[in-house]
Amino acid sequence: MTSLPLRTLRVAAPVAAVCLALLVVNGASARNPFTADELKDMDAKLTASAKRGYDLWYGARADMANNGLACANCHPDGSATNPQTFPKFMPSFDRVAAYREMINWCIENPQGGKALDPNSADMIALESYSYYLHRGVPIDTGLQTRQTAGPTPKNARGLNVPGTGIGFDKK
Ligand code: HEC
Repeated sequence: MTSLPLRTLRVAAPVAAVCLALLVVNGASARNPFTADELKDMDAKLTASAKRGYDLWYGARADMANNGLACANCHPDGSATNPQTFPKFMPSFDRVAAYREMINWCIENPQGGKALDPNSADMIALESYSYYLHRGVPIDTGLQTRQTAGPTPKNARGLNVPGTGIGFDKK
């Protein structure tokens, strides 16, 4: 058996060590594809968030307004909210703004309410509902002039749920 020259070993040993480390890391993070049950569970959680968003959209939280207005009064079926265009330059902010900032802007200004914690479950629920209605609409970040196209929901209000009875949202 011929022994490897020392120089080759000096190079080969660290390379082998890195390969081994990568294998271990990969082995630890690899997982099987999601099962049907897991996918169902994830979908149920997203739907629950969108339904909570729907309730909030129709005025379920009193502190989001001081004048009786809810998102749905001005944005029925999520119209004119255009989540697919964010982040985009908002002249009113004089900078590029995130979608949730615009939600808080509407809570504080037209509705005179208390802004939501941007990372709260309720803020994410409002996003879930609005993005849910806009599924399939191509992402098109850019300028405010591209904000007229509304979603075309398959069901009334885009979600197959009974009305809340609040405001114009008939039961
Ligand atoms: C009284 C009417 C009114 C109510 C109620 C209202 N908005 Fe708005 N909303 C507006 C107006 C007006 C604009 C445009 C503001 C601008 O361009 O600076 C707007 C813009 C937006 C935008 C940005 C749309 C875009 O393409 O730039 C989002 C998102 C939005 N509203 C979400 C909401 C949500 C969520 C609520 C409820 C919490 C809500 N709005 C309540 C009037 C309203």
